Amino acid sequence: MFDGQKVEGYEGETIAAALHAAGIHVLSHSIEEHRPRGFFCAIGNCSSCMMEVNGEPNVKVCVEKLQEGMVVNTQKGKGMIL
Ligand code: FES
Repeated sequence: MFDGQKVEGYEGETIAAALHAAGIHVLSHSIEEHRPRGFFCAIGNCSSCMMEVNGEPNVKVCVEKLQEGMVVNTQKGKGMIL
């Protein structure tokens, strides 16, 4: 699930790859200006793709593998553990 909508992908590909294949390119928003962020380095070296995955904030989805039943949400700001 991505922001409440069902998205399909291949198990083992990255979350970001599955989202891009589904036409979703905004992965997070900048902390201060709330500008949209997406893929930048795609190798886990920046902070452009951090999302909330299964309730855990700041997950770099360009390197995190997709698993069945994951819940992925767009992260706003620094992310909070609920
Ligand atoms: S795009 Fe840079 S860490 Fe994911």
